[in-house]
Amino acid sequence: MNHSPALPPVTVLGLGPMGQALAATFLGAGHPTTVWNRTAGKAADLVARGAVLAGTAAEAVAASPLVVVCVLDYDAVHAVLDPAAGELAGRTLVNLTADTPGRARATAAWAAGLGAGYLDGAIMVPTTVVGGPSALVLYSGPESVYEAHRPTLACLGGTAVHLGADPGRAAAHDVALLDVFWTAMSGIVHAFALASAEDISAADLVPYAKGIGALLPDIMDDFARRIDRGEYAGDGSDLLSAATGMEHIIHTARGHGLDTGVLTAAHAVARRAIDAGRGSDSFALLAETIARTPA
Ligand SMILES: NC(=O)c1ccc[n+]([C@@H]2O[C@H](COP(=O)([O-])OP(=O)(O)OC[C@H]3O[C@@H](n4cnc5c(N)ncnc54)[C@H](OP(=O)(O)O)[C@@H]3O)[C@@H](O)[C@H]2O)c1
Repeated sequence: MNHSPALPPVTVLGLGPMGQALAATFLGAGHPTTVWNRTAGKAADLVARGAVLAGTAAEAVAASPLVVVCVLDYDAVHAVLDPAAGELAGRTLVNLTADTPGRARATAAWAAGLGAGYLDGAIMVPTTVVGGPSALVLYSGPESVYEAHRPTLACLGGTAVHLGADPGRAAAHDVALLDVFWTAMSGIVHAFALASAEDISAADLVPYAKGIGALLPDIMDDFARRIDRGEYAGDGSDLLSAATGMEHIIHTARGHGLDTGVLTAAHAVARRAIDAGRGSDSFALLAETIARTPA
């Protein structure tokens, strides 16, 4: 480990799995690293590797010009930082906690009121990838603040993207991308349940399920073109056909007494478009149908 005096100190608040990965990465890159966590015992490995464990969040903030916070959500961010707010003036807070775009903007305003620079960030990869070439971290907030800390943040690895001055923009990408992820995850576990009910083991289904996953990148490109142009003319596969396929799944799952909540909800959106006379259009049209759904 090389604590080069040339590298600026970094503080990491929050030592869940991701906070530990972040702190270990800064430490490994040679940044003097101060850590703090509500549950202090989680700092033991980092301290053994050279991190300094602060006694309070305020002491941790005071230790570095760059303070990274990564906890459960923004309620936890405020639980950690409100008692340390007096130390934030003149420092930069990089909030890598996931939450909503609105809360990112509110937290940016809160930090500005304290005289702190603020970047909001979204980590789009698991802990094991942090610091490596496949890492992806999205940032938003003032460009000057990002540029000032870019060399330090670059050690988190892979690709770092500054998405603009609006502090909510990283979180906006995060929620949209996690919409893809969690909706897909829900489909994956439902498919395994359905397969199991039909005496197909998960291992037997996987090779074919991966084939379905491999179709999705081209579909995303096609949908993006259609959605950005607002052109939804059916092209070989239309909404009516898609909704009928969804019904086969729902009927089979119901026959086995399985929960069908996720697909029933998705099917209802498709039906709404079909009932509005758009059954021959592309499935991509549903991006507009969803946007018009009354709350
Ligand atoms: N893990 C991943 O692969 C991953 C990937 C991308 C993004 N993220 C994001 O990174 C953030 C942190 O994730 P994580 O994996 O480290 O685990 P997490 O379970 O989301 O967060 C755990 C951390 O939050 C702290 N915390 C929770 N409630 C608190 C409160 N009321 N007051 C003070 N501290 C509180 C915990 O402190 P204690 O240790 O004291 O409980 C711990 O430091 C999340 O926003 C998550 O969405 C995680």
